[in-house]
Amino acid sequence: MLSFKINGKNYNVDVEPETPLLWVIRDTIGLTGTKYGCGIALCGACTVHVNGRAVRSCVTPASQAVGQEITTIEGLSPDGQHPAQVAWREGDVPECGYCQPGQIMAAAALLARKPNPTDADIDREITNLCRCGTYAHIRKAIHRAAQIAARR
Ligand code: FES
Ligand code: FES
Repeated sequence: MLSFKINGKNYNVDVEPETPLLWVIRDTIGLTGTKYGCGIALCGACTVHVNGRAVRSCVTPASQAVGQEITTIEGLSPDGQHPAQVAWREGDVPECGYCQPGQIMAAAALLARKPNPTDADIDREITNLCRCGTYAHIRKAIHRAAQIAARR
């Protein structure tokens, strides 16, 4: 039995220590906002925060997440008003939407570390893939989120 704290709630889960954290989040606990894309740390669809840092949960063993603060897209804000979420809606960023929870989680972690990221910061640090090519909209939304956060 392993214990996890996800979005502020405690869960005791009967999984093997090497089970990917993504399976715990989606299949065991049922939080399906975090997506499965490649399973090999390439696409970022599975991005969640562990202690505020963006990690790819498809390659994170469950054992490494025990005792850590895990946040998924469902827990990013209580009311969908995180600056990134507001900016994403304003900018109508998603196309198919599949990659977007991971994109928002990656963006939120970047903004927490760098409240006013440059284009170069964004290009270097947001490595999540989008099959629909929403990259320009994502970049714009991150700048907008920085403005929204600065005004709060
Ligand atoms: S599903 Fe984890 S990086 Fe693609
Ligand atoms: S919006 Fe379709 S994969 Fe990114």
